[in-house]
Parts: sequence; C-alpha cells; structure tokens
Amino acid sequence: MTLACGIDFGTSNSSIAACNAEGPRLLPIQGGATSVPTALFVSFDDNSMTFGHEALERYFARDPGRYLRAIKSVLGTHLFEQTTQVRLKRYAFGDIIAAFLRFLRTAASEDLGTPPTSVVLGRPAFFVDDDPDADAAAQRQLETAARTAGFERIAFQFEPIAAALDYEQSVNGEEIALVADIGGGTSDFSVVRVSPERARSSDRRQDILGFTGVHIGGTDFDKQLGLATVMPALGLRSRLRRKGLDAPSWYFVDLATWHKIGFLYDPKILAEVRGVVRDSAEPEKVGRLLRVLEQCKGHELLAAIEAAKIELSSAERATLDLDDVADINLEINRAKLEAAVADNLQRIRSRIDNVLQMAGLMPDKVAAVFLTGGATRMPSVRKAIAAAVPNARLVAGDAFGSVATGLALDATRRFGER
Ligand SMILES: Nc1ncnc2c1ncn2[C@@H]1O[C@H](COP(=O)(O)OP(=O)(O)OP(=O)(O)O)[C@@H](O)[C@H]1O
Ligand SMILES: [Mg+2]
Repeated sequence: MTLACGIDFGTSNSSIAACNAEGPRLLPIQGGATSVPTALFVSFDDNSMTFGHEALERYFARDPGRYLRAIKSVLGTHLFEQTTQVRLKRYAFGDIIAAFLRFLRTAASEDLGTPPTSVVLGRPAFFVDDDPDADAAAQRQLETAARTAGFERIAFQFEPIAAALDYEQSVNGEEIALVADIGGGTSDFSVVRVSPERARSSDRRQDILGFTGVHIGGTDFDKQLGLATVMPALGLRSRLRRKGLDAPSWYFVDLATWHKIGFLYDPKILAEVRGVVRDSAEPEKVGRLLRVLEQCKGHELLAAIEAAKIELSSAERATLDLDDVADINLEINRAKLEAAVADNLQRIRSRIDNVLQMAGLMPDKVAAVFLTGGATRMPSVRKAIAAAVPNARLVAGDAFGSVATGLALDATRRFGER
C-alpha cells in the first residue's frame, strides 16, 4: 500500500501528519515530539548530519560542526545557488533541504510501518514577495528536494488554506473565518467559508474567498529586537577612527538574520572584521562582534534574543544574559519589543485589510479568527489582528500543528490513500 502524508516544512519548526480511518494525526518525529526545529547540524569530525532537536543539542553542546537554521528562507533567493562548506565537503542548499525532508519521511515511516510515497507540502502565499519568478523557483526547488527525499507524488497547498481545513474540523455551523498563520518566516491569511457540510466536499474553490501573505514572521521580530538592543553593544552604529564613518551595518543585519549567520564565519569576512576592530574608535564593541564570529556563537546570540522575545509574550520584562556569548547583560521590556516590531505589525495589518478586500467583505462580516503559528502567541500580534476584524472571536489553534494536520486532510483527499 502507498501512503500519503502532509508536511509543514516551516522556517522555524516542521511537522508531518497522515490520516487514518479516525482522521488526521500528527506523527511523532523525535522522542515523541510532533513538531521539531527546522535545524541541521553537520559534524566537522565525520560530516554526519543530525536534525531537529538533536541538531540543536549538538550546537549548544558546542560540538564542532556547522549549524543551519531557517533554510526555508533561502528558497527562491540567490543564496540557494551558494554552497555551504563543511570541512572538505561542499553542500548545496537543495541537498540540505532534501536531507531534512528525508529525516521527516523516515520518522513517518517508523511510525506508519512503511514510508509515505505521496506528499502535500505546505507553501506560504509567497515564498518571495513581489517576484513571481523567484516564487515559482522556490516551489520548484522544494519539489526537487522532496523528490530527492524519496517522495514520488508531490503536490502543494497554501499554508493558510491547510490551516483552514484544520479549523473546519471543529466548527458546528457555517461561518466566515479569517485564518491567520504567523510563523517564523511568513504571515499568511485566508478568508474562508467553513461548515461541517462543506468540509465533506472535495472542491473548495468557491469557499476560499481570498488568501495572501507577506514575508514577515517571528524571525523578523528577532532581527528587529536584536538590532534595537544587542547589536549596538557589538558595534552597530559605532564610529571608525580614520574615515569618520560607522562600522559597516550589514555584519549586524546578517548576524540578526537566522539564515545568514553561517556565511559570516567565512575566513574572508573574519579578516575584514579584524580590520574593522583595528580601525574602530570603539574597539571594545566591535571586538565583541569579532569574538562571536570567531567562536561561531551567532546562533546562540540570536537564540537568546528569540528566547527574550518569547518571554515577553507572558512577562513585562526579560533579561538577556549574554555574559557567556558576548560579555553583555541587558534588561528589556515589552514596550521595547513592541516599538522594534511596530513597522512589521503595520505591514501585517495591511495584508489583513487586503485579504478582506479580496474577499469583498466588510471586516464585521468575519465571525472568527483562527490563529496558528508560533508568533500569534505575541500579544501585540494578536492585538493587531483583532483590531482588523473587531467583531470576530479569537480561536487559538494548535500553533505548531494546524498546518500539517490540514495538509494531511488535503493529501488524503487528493491522493485517496491512507
Ligand atoms: N510564546 C511565543 N511568543 C512569541 N513568539 C513565539 C512564541 N512561541 C513561538 N514563537 C515564535 O514563533 C515562530 C515559529 O512559529 P512556527 O513554528 O509557527 O513557524 P514556522 O511554521 O516554522 O514558520 P513559517 O510558517 O513562517 O515558515 C518563531 O519565530 C518563534 O520565536
Ligand atoms: Mg508555519
């Protein structure tokens, strides 16, 4: 028997789900976890690859190797053509993504007893904003990676539509819902007519009133929070001695960008940064940047910033204890985070207004907002969404599982296999 599954290959976290006679089910991937970090670790010792939680553990244990995060953000960009050097071997991004998808497929195979051969992969409304060619290239790159990982039949579904299919399992009557999936890399929205009867129909085109998205997510909030708090202490906007200029800002922007950190460890860039330290009027600051890069602690730094962001979803203040990483210790509050991400939230809000226009709906016609994606746990994100649809009740879905669950429903419908 062949098997169909749904894969939510997320910027930050990934899941895989399949349907049986009882319905969709998220499959355990690692130690029982049904959602794992989209992370890879390639060992310097033997070039072996580890994935998910295990990759995270090896990086934080300071095992020698190369750590990769947010590999989805590379799809459709010029970085996809670049390779990552680990010791004597060069890795193409397509092969790195294929290896991660194979890891998910193997985990599914262990649970199901046989490897799934058909898959519906989630995709954001836009992998790349405002560039249809690059967007189409991104989907092709992901499809090729899925084929390399062993899938034979491959289809795509929009992540916000998949999340709507999951939400629909819980509704009792007919209603119009706004589905908001704010993840690590993208914010995706759909406006859908849902009902238990409609859920049984196989063609839902008429019920999808609109969908759109924008390339803004939790990783951008990490970046903005980092640039506003930690990066000035590492030399952002610090002066150079001789030229009357500032230290180049792109080191700090890339250090605050999950999928670009690894490129900063290149020996050529390290040599450049040493030059900046020599030239700096504030060498103690840029010296911190240099140490972070020399010790490959960029991901550790950004993970601490992300952890502070997450803490600020439930607390007013958070401490950024970076003594070990960069010899700095900062206290930040929620207002600082909200100011740092205000522009991003504004852009997210205007996409919601767009999707309502697309659907030809006044905001008060939306009965419910279904929230999924880790970043919808941020109070300011919820506030921005709620303000766009004032009469809607907020329904919090499974932040990390809704999309994969909806993709599994879609996979069974398309491929007719369980
Ligand atoms: N409690 C929280 N408060 C704020 N942000 C959170 C919280 N929990 C998780 N996040 C953020 O949610 C993001 C990950 O969400 P999710 O796993 O839904 O994304 P993804 O599916 O991997 O990404 P995408 O769908 O954009 O490709 C990360 O940026 C993470 O920091
Ligand atoms: Mg997601």
